[in-house]
Amino acid sequence: MKHIAVLASGRGTNLQAIIDNIENGTIPAKLVCVISDNKEAPALERARRHNIEALYIDPGSKKTWLIPEVEEKYVKVLKDRNVDLVCLAGFMRVLKKTFLSAFKGRILNIHPALLPAFPGLDVQRKALEYGVKFSGCTVHFVTEDVDAGPIITQAAVPVLDDDTPETLARRILKEEHRIYTEAINIVLSGKYKIIGRRVIRTD
Ligand code: GRF
Repeated sequence: MKHIAVLASGRGTNLQAIIDNIENGTIPAKLVCVISDNKEAPALERARRHNIEALYIDPGSKKTWLIPEVEEKYVKVLKDRNVDLVCLAGFMRVLKKTFLSAFKGRILNIHPALLPAFPGLDVQRKALEYGVKFSGCTVHFVTEDVDAGPIITQAAVPVLDDDTPETLARRILKEEHRIYTEAINIVLSGKYKIIGRRVIRTD
């Protein structure tokens, strides 16, 4: 059984979808720990409710990325638990070399827009302001360039005339919960290859 870890900074609804899909057998893996850079993250509470190890690792700075000493702590925890796949789910810090090289090709992230459109933060508002008729969500491998790694899955969501950032975010989130599981299963199966930037399924 493959070992998964989830890193989350906030409410943890994507984490919850992963937990539910592991419990109902849709994801054939064990969630060995949830780690947060935020002591108060509801995500940690969700993990505890399901008897999953929930760890807070002090980010040690207000920077938007993890400093190398802290990355080492994350990596140690993950290695000690034989983690095969790291899933970022609303984790608000950028990962750098120490972390990325320890889990090369084994870190996923979910983003609430159709990348490469609207990377970064507050993207539902940006999509509305730009006037796109479709937005959506993307699961991609994490690389040094933020929100720019090879794309595993995407789902499109229509933008409605009366949408607010909140209503659009809610509909996108529903799709996030579905496609994150899909992407995790593709990666766990190992039945894909990466050609250039393209993730091609081989099953
Ligand atoms: C999601 O919209 C995800 O795409 C983004 O952060 C949000 C996290 O939400 N990276 P949740 O904590 O999973 O509910």
